[in-house]
Amino acid sequence: MKGHVPTPDDLADHMVAKLFDGHEPTEGDTLLYPGCGTGPFVAAVHRYCDANDLPVPDGVGVELDPKHLTKARENHANKNVELLERDFLDDSILEDFSEFDYIIANPPYVPIEGLSEEEKEDYKARFDTAEGRFDLFVLFYEQALKLLADGGRLSFITPEKFEYTSTTAPLRRILSTYDIEEIEHVDEDSFGDLVTFPVITTVNNTEPTDTRIITREGDERTVSLPSDGSSWAATVRGGAPDIDSGVTLGDVCERISCGVATGADSVFVVDEDEVPPQLEEWTYPTTSGKQLRINDGPDSGQVFISAYDEHGSLTSEDELGAFGDWADLHRERLEDRSCYKKGKRAWYAWHENPPMEDILQPKIVCKDITESPHFWRDDTGEVVPRHSVYYLIPEDSVELDELQEYLNGPDASAWLEANCQRAANGFLRMQSTVLKQLPVPQEFGESRQAKLTEL
Ligand SMILES: C[S@@+](CC[C@H](N)C(=O)[O-])C[C@H]1O[C@@H](n2cnc3c(N)ncnc32)[C@H](O)[C@@H]1O
Repeated sequence: MKGHVPTPDDLADHMVAKLFDGHEPTEGDTLLYPGCGTGPFVAAVHRYCDANDLPVPDGVGVELDPKHLTKARENHANKNVELLERDFLDDSILEDFSEFDYIIANPPYVPIEGLSEEEKEDYKARFDTAEGRFDLFVLFYEQALKLLADGGRLSFITPEKFEYTSTTAPLRRILSTYDIEEIEHVDEDSFGDLVTFPVITTVNNTEPTDTRIITREGDERTVSLPSDGSSWAATVRGGAPDIDSGVTLGDVCERISCGVATGADSVFVVDEDEVPPQLEEWTYPTTSGKQLRINDGPDSGQVFISAYDEHGSLTSEDELGAFGDWADLHRERLEDRSCYKKGKRAWYAWHENPPMEDILQPKIVCKDITESPHFWRDDTGEVVPRHSVYYLIPEDSVELDELQEYLNGPDASAWLEANCQRAANGFLRMQSTVLKQLPVPQEFGESRQAKLTEL
């Protein structure tokens, strides 16, 4: 079943306290628990109401997974809640339910890769928020807001990325027609090892007013969020994040470059399992930008067939052996490339000589054009990225996993969102000039400095 990440009790208590803060329930109020799982919010609501001597609102819990629902029914047998095994995203929910005074959820976080083609098409037809590479939690938001009574109040915990990715522009537009009272950025480890940079958002179904932002450092600020769907990153953070470390990504990397251009990827790139045995020694694993997917590494299952050795030298024509026999079959196509000039470059050379000594090291890669910034690690150092990929070779002193974690974190994301040029559809261009200027924490510079002093 999709996206079951239970909410710890202390977090559920915290959210319930926010839900009822200044809006205490009165007799006959109703409360919806979408994707209720085993019911941690049901328990937290009862704890809060018992402790504060308040009536428990009439609850309805909706859960798709019968296993969780059975558990919820066992856990909350005598509580004021009806627990239903239903699909919260089904249209019938809007027909069968009347509006609720309160809604509280930790909706499922399921990226588009986790959905079937039919599901994607169905959601795209029915939800304004099902745009681009959407996540299930945005649909939960849209559906829940349709069920929130006038003057009602909603509390959701979700990944913070809806504040700034281009995919979530429709959700930002919808949310900004409500009063977004508060966005609290809670601890990264709120869900243990699952790092989603969670935020708790409190929304009133009343006229929009300013929003209180609480940062992970505990700072509070009141802001007016853009209502046109544009990124909230700069407003939420009080401008592009001010990471004034004096050290940039360019300072701590030996190289930040675009992957190699062959002028004929359709010839040089083949599926690994289609490489004839005699050509295996002429191959390097490769990936394109498109093949980089959030949950996978940069191993695409494809390889370059190449006459460049690991120093970037092109093998001379009389030593080509099996490569020569294979390349000869494509000679006409290779000589047809705009980069080929007779007598100037070998007909089997690439568009440019790949700096293999740099490339063949553990590295970090990202797409050249992306909806939202994300960085992958090639620990093997064997991948030769294609032209639609940027690669970063950090200095020896920099731990690859620490740098990757920083680059995938909220500050780097917000900085890139604020500073990268835009391509079509609001996608970001990850140019090396911009990447090189990205501020990084001082520790990366310090370990580099320590290494230099040591040398
Ligand atoms: C992130 S979990 C949260 C569970 C619970 N609310 C909690 O806080 O512990 C999301 C829940 O939504 C349920 N879910 C996923 N898709 C659903 C759908 N279309 N309708 C109803 N529930 C769904 C999952 O089975 C899962 O239990």
